[in-house]
Amino acid sequence: MKRIKIEGERVLEGTIKISGAKNAAVALVPASLLCDEPVEIDNIPNISDIDDLEEILVHLGATVEKNGSSIKIDPTTVDNKEIPDEISSKLRASYYFMSALLGKYKHVEMHFPGGCSIGARPIDQTIKGFKALGAEVEVNGTKYTVHAKELIGGHVYLDMPSVGATVNTILVAVRAKGITTIENAAKEPEIVNLATFLNNMGAKITGAGTSEIKIEGVEYLLKAFIEVIPDRIEAGTYVIAGALMGNNLKIDQIIPEHIEMLILKLKEMGVPIEVNIDNVIVSRSDNLKSVKVKTLGYPGFATDLQQPLTPLLTQLTGLSELEETIYENRFKNIPYLNEMGADIKIDGRKIYVNGPTELIGKEVTATDLRAGACLVLAGLKAKGTTIVNNVEFILRGYENIVEKLNSVGAKLEIEEI
Ligand code: EPU
Repeated sequence: MKRIKIEGERVLEGTIKISGAKNAAVALVPASLLCDEPVEIDNIPNISDIDDLEEILVHLGATVEKNGSSIKIDPTTVDNKEIPDEISSKLRASYYFMSALLGKYKHVEMHFPGGCSIGARPIDQTIKGFKALGAEVEVNGTKYTVHAKELIGGHVYLDMPSVGATVNTILVAVRAKGITTIENAAKEPEIVNLATFLNNMGAKITGAGTSEIKIEGVEYLLKAFIEVIPDRIEAGTYVIAGALMGNNLKIDQIIPEHIEMLILKLKEMGVPIEVNIDNVIVSRSDNLKSVKVKTLGYPGFATDLQQPLTPLLTQLTGLSELEETIYENRFKNIPYLNEMGADIKIDGRKIYVNGPTELIGKEVTATDLRAGACLVLAGLKAKGTTIVNNVEFILRGYENIVEKLNSVGAKLEIEEI
């Protein structure tokens, strides 16, 4: 087990460079198995979720060559065998293998995926997509056996714009016969990154980034290259760090449009922020106004940023309101923030934050990835020492978080316990 010790109240100055997006990379890696030739993915983040996907690639017999942030995957050596529970349950994105293997081999055996415990997270919309394309799904405990004599393009209307179901339906449809239409699709930039990769292989996907995606099936996919887009959630997390403790802190190598809703909210609070082509420069201010925030699918305010935002809400003057509309259990960070001195009330899917309050260093525990990011940010602001337990959650999604923050003046240390 690891924990992070943070000495708070240090000014953050300099530049943090943002890594490749976790939620794009975790779709691109499994998508590589659809290809008939080797592929290369660049700007892969060095995070444990990617290590877990690599374990699945190796289990399946793919040839994997990693060189820094670049990964070459040769899918031609894959043996389509069952993906056991021990590895599928390590992360949510493992089920992207389910659809990639189904799409290529018309058969897959795999167990229910894992992921942070932030809500029920069913996979019914993915299953609906599989069935719409002609697959039969058998469920036995946690095991899913999905088989299709033939995959034939179909019409899929998603009940909610689910990122996972959109990715999975694209992956299954790419090699199906005929045209698949996904309506009410998720519009996240990670989906555009995935569609670009598949189109680079010769797939015929249009409309990615809008709520209607069309996929015309193809028979063969050629070798291809893709670069992972910058991680908008990592970027947003450090922008919030800058609003808490920054003095012209530069968050670099980003696509500012991808965090537009966050930038607008920070401006509404009064945070000094300069937006440039591929970076933003942000500073702290003592004079910030309370706001209302509601999470929504892209381009709305990202659910993955609401937990990192909460330490900043404690510093605003007045009552802030935050509503979480995507997940039913994403406030596990709040009791810890209250222990650190915040005044936050939870009411169903909403929290009310009364500010400003002083934050004081305490020993707290990360219950999931973004809750962990929230507590690290609170620790940067707090008086004294904060200890964040269960750091493994944070390392799933933030590359070199300790090194990146220390390089701009923070004082963090990872301890093995
Ligand atoms: N949902 C269903 N049925 C489904 C699919 C989704 O009811 O078949 C519900 C979920 O329970 C949830 C909502 O719909 O309440 C949205 O789920 P979605 O499928 O969009 O989420 P996901 O694909 O499981 C991805 C990211 C999450 C991010 C969400 C929303 C990956 C690997 N994960 O999850 O990232 O919060 O989209 O943007 O891409 C994180 O990075 O910390 C993280 C949790």
